[in-house]
Amino acid sequence: MSNLSLFNEKSDEVSQLRELINFHNYRYYALDDPEVPDAEYDRLMRRLREIEVENPDLITPDSPTQRVGSKPLSEFTTIVHELPMLSLDNAFSDEDLFAFNQRIQDRLKSTADVEYVCEVKLDGLAISLLYQDGVLVRGATRGDGTNGEDITQNVRTINSIPLRLMGSGFPAVLEVRGEIYMPKAGFNALNEKARAAGEKLFVNPRNAAAGSLRQLDSRITANRPLEMCAYSVGYVEAGNLPAAHHDILQSLKHWGFLTNRETQLVSNIEEAMKFYRGIGDRRDKLAYDIDGVVIKVNSIELQQELGFVSRAPRWAVAYKFPAQEETTELLDVEFQVGRTGAVTPVARLQPVFVGGVTVSNATLHNRDEIQRLGIKIGDTVIVRRAGDVIPQIVQIVESKRPANARDIIFPERCPVCASSVETIEGEAVARCSGGLICAAQRKEAIKHFASRKAMNVEGLGDKLVEQLVDQNLVKSLADIYTLDLQTLANLDRMGEKSAENILEALNKSKHTTLSKFIYALGIREVGESTARNLANHFGSFEALASASEEMLLAVKDVGPVCVHFLTDFFSRDENKQAVEALKANGIEWSNIELKSIADLPLASSTYVLTGSLTRFSREEASATLIALGAKVSGSVSSKTTALFAGSEAGSKLQKAESLGVPVLDEQALIDLSSQHSIEI
Ligand code: IVH
Repeated sequence: MSNLSLFNEKSDEVSQLRELINFHNYRYYALDDPEVPDAEYDRLMRRLREIEVENPDLITPDSPTQRVGSKPLSEFTTIVHELPMLSLDNAFSDEDLFAFNQRIQDRLKSTADVEYVCEVKLDGLAISLLYQDGVLVRGATRGDGTNGEDITQNVRTINSIPLRLMGSGFPAVLEVRGEIYMPKAGFNALNEKARAAGEKLFVNPRNAAAGSLRQLDSRITANRPLEMCAYSVGYVEAGNLPAAHHDILQSLKHWGFLTNRETQLVSNIEEAMKFYRGIGDRRDKLAYDIDGVVIKVNSIELQQELGFVSRAPRWAVAYKFPAQEETTELLDVEFQVGRTGAVTPVARLQPVFVGGVTVSNATLHNRDEIQRLGIKIGDTVIVRRAGDVIPQIVQIVESKRPANARDIIFPERCPVCASSVETIEGEAVARCSGGLICAAQRKEAIKHFASRKAMNVEGLGDKLVEQLVDQNLVKSLADIYTLDLQTLANLDRMGEKSAENILEALNKSKHTTLSKFIYALGIREVGESTARNLANHFGSFEALASASEEMLLAVKDVGPVCVHFLTDFFSRDENKQAVEALKANGIEWSNIELKSIADLPLASSTYVLTGSLTRFSREEASATLIALGAKVSGSVSSKTTALFAGSEAGSKLQKAESLGVPVLDEQALIDLSSQHSIEI
C-alpha cells in the first residue's frame, strides 16, 4: 500500500473516532446519560491519541484530544462583541414580577396571556462562544458588555463545550451564549484538595469558576471541574433559527450543548411564579448554585417588538432569591465549650438578613480558620448561609478594616472552668482539659445522656439541664436520678405537675438496653450504630469494659481511632465510678446472648501470623481471625491449623514447613474474611 493511501486510511479512522468520541462526550456531559462505560470511551481516546502522535499532520484544533490546555499566554487579548452582551432587570417580589408582565402587556397593547420560558439563573460567568461552519473559533468573557477578553484556550478545555457542533442546520456563523459555572460537588472537592495542601480556599463556586477561567495557563483550567450551560444565541450569519426561544434551546441541545433540564415553557405569569417557588424549594438540592430564575418571553417576534431599555431587554427579568451571602460586621468572638471539651470560637455579628433568615452568630470553627481568614474583631465580613448549613464567614473585606480592629486571642484557659486548654499535635481543635469538672462539658454530657436516642428522659430539655448544672444541683450523670420533686418544682418555668412528669420519665429511663447505655455515655467516636455493634459483639458491659485493643478492633466498623477513645474511656477511674453510680441509682439493662464461640466458623482452630502483610496491619489480621472464632498464637506447633506468612517471613515459616503445617498467604486471609463477610 502506498504511503498516501495509508495516510487516507488513518485519516478516515481519525474522523470516525472523533465523531464517536464527540457523540459519547455529548451523551455524558450534555445529556448526563452515557451510552458506553468509561473504559470504552478511554479506549477510543487512547486510539485517537496514538494515531495523532504517529501522524501529527492529522491533528486539528477541534480534535477531542485538544482539550488538555496549551502553552500559557502572557495576557488575554480584548475582543469586541458583535452584539453587546446585556444584563437583566431584577425582580425581588411577586409584585415586581406582575409589574413586569403588566409592562409587557401594555407595550403590546394586549391583555392576552404571554407565553414565557422559565430558566434557572446560574451563578457563574457569562460566556460568548463563536462557531464558524460549526467549529469553535472564539470564546470570550462578557467584560463590560461591549469589550470582552479572549479566553478561547480556556473554554476549549471544558468538556460540555462542543469544539465542533453536532448534527446539521446550524447557521454558518453562530454565537452561543451561556453560563460557565462550577457544580457544588466539584467545588467542594477542589477546596478539600486546597485545604489538604494548605492552600487558599475559594470562597464560593462562582469565585472558583471565575478564578479558573482567568488563568493564563489553560492547563490549570483543564483540571478544574467547570461546566457550561447554553441559554441563548447572539450573533448569527447565514442561517435561520426557530421563531421561539424554547425551540432555539432545543436546537442548541441538538447541536451538542448542555442546556438546563429545569427549563420550562409556561403559558402565563402565574405559572412562571409557580416555577420560581418550586425551584426555590429545591434550590439547595440542585447540583449547582443559582441566585434566581430568569423569565423570558418565548416568542422571538414579541421579543423584537419589545426591544431594549438602556442595557437590559424588556422581554426578560431575573427574579432573584434571597441572597446567600451578605456583608456585616464582626462585633466580638466568644468561645464555646462542647461535650468533648472542644473550644469553638463563635462570631457575634451585627444581625444581617441572609439566606432567608436573620443571622447574628457564625462558627469560626477553630484556630486555623481564624488564621486562614486573617480576621480581627471590628472587621467587615462576608457571611454565607446556604440551605440548612450553619452560617459561615467566608471572607473578610480587608479594605474596610477600622483602625481599632482587635486581634482574636484564643484562650489558654477554659472560659467556663478555667482548666487549661490543650491542643494535640496535628489536631486543629483545642480542648478544655477539665472533663466533667467543666460545667460546659457536664451540661452537654447530660443533654446527650438524656436525649431521645440515648436514655430518652422525656422533658429533661436543654434549658432544664442548664439550670440544674448552673445551680450545682447535678454534678454527675448519676445525680439526675437523685433529684426530688421539690428541687425540680422550684426551678424556673417548672411546677409540681411538670416536676412529677420528669421524675416519672427518669424512672422510666432506668430500664434501658445495653447499646443505648453505651451510646448515652458519650464516648468520642461512639455513635448510635457503633454502640449497637459493640453491644452485640460483647453482650455485656463488663466484657466491653475489659476488652483489649485487639478485641475492640475486631468489632464491625470500629477502627483504631475509636479503639483509642474506648480504651481511654474505660481506663479512667472517674468513668468507672460514674458507671457504678448509675447502676447504683437503678439503671439496668439485659445482657445480649452471644453466639457461642463454638458456633463461629473458625472455632477450635489456631493460627499463627508471620512476616509483613501489605493490605492490613498484623493487629487487624489477628482481630479478623479472632472475630471468626479462631485462636491466634505467637508460635508454631504441631497443633497449629495453618500459618499465614507475609513477605520476609523467617523462622516461623521454616518451623511450619518442617512440621508439615499448611502455609497460607495474605490473599487466603482476605478470601477467608470476605467469605465470612468480615471487613478488614
Ligand atoms: S439571559 C439579555 N439566562 O445572569 C439576556 N442569563 O444579568 C441575557 N445568567 O450575566 C442573559 N443564568 O450570565 C440569562 N438562564 C439565564 C441565565 C443568565 C445566568 C446570568 C448571565 C448574566 C446575568 C444577567
